[in-house]
Amino acid sequence: MKRSARLFTAASVAATLTLGLGATSSVQAFDEHEATIDYRQGVMRAIGGNMGSVAAVVIDGADYAGNLKMHTQQLVDLTHDIPSLFPEGSDFPDTDAREAIWDNWDRYVELSSDSRDAARALHAAVEAGDESEYMIRFRNLGQSCQACHDDFRRD
Ligand code: HEC
Repeated sequence: MKRSARLFTAASVAATLTLGLGATSSVQAFDEHEATIDYRQGVMRAIGGNMGSVAAVVIDGADYAGNLKMHTQQLVDLTHDIPSLFPEGSDFPDTDAREAIWDNWDRYVELSSDSRDAARALHAAVEAGDESEYMIRFRNLGQSCQACHDDFRRD
């Protein structure tokens, strides 16, 4: 009796482990994408926040020119490797990323590089204090965001 109870227990532990592991790995697969998507949307919002602050200074004349370098540095850092935010399969559950991203990966990488380069160009102008370049370089960066969103982000 004692022995069979122990067997039973061992069997149920094994069954629980098997079922549990199965359930855990599918939960992990789901969570993995969900977490990735949460993370990249957070990065995109941070990029958007910095763009908004730069626009307020450069276009609307907000009195925070001393912070411009901080914002453009963040734009450089955050646009550094956009493709890594979009691992294949991260087109669900709750995302505005279009599947077309993974069918046109080379183009996606190219558009990411355009934004990264435009952020670097803007930051370089700010570091040099070359104010006459701020507006045009900010516009270039904004257009590079738009170019990607037009084709690869759901409205
Ligand atoms: C190479 C493509 C690409 C580039 C370049 C790009 N984005 Fe995005 N962005 C996306 C995609 C795709 C999404 C949707 C992500 C999702 O929902 O998972 C997105 C989402 C966003 C969001 C919404 C985030 C949220 O809360 O869901 C903001 C804001 C944003 N981008 C701002 C910017 C700005 C500003 C730039 C330029 C400085 C930029 N993006 C450059 C592809 C890009």
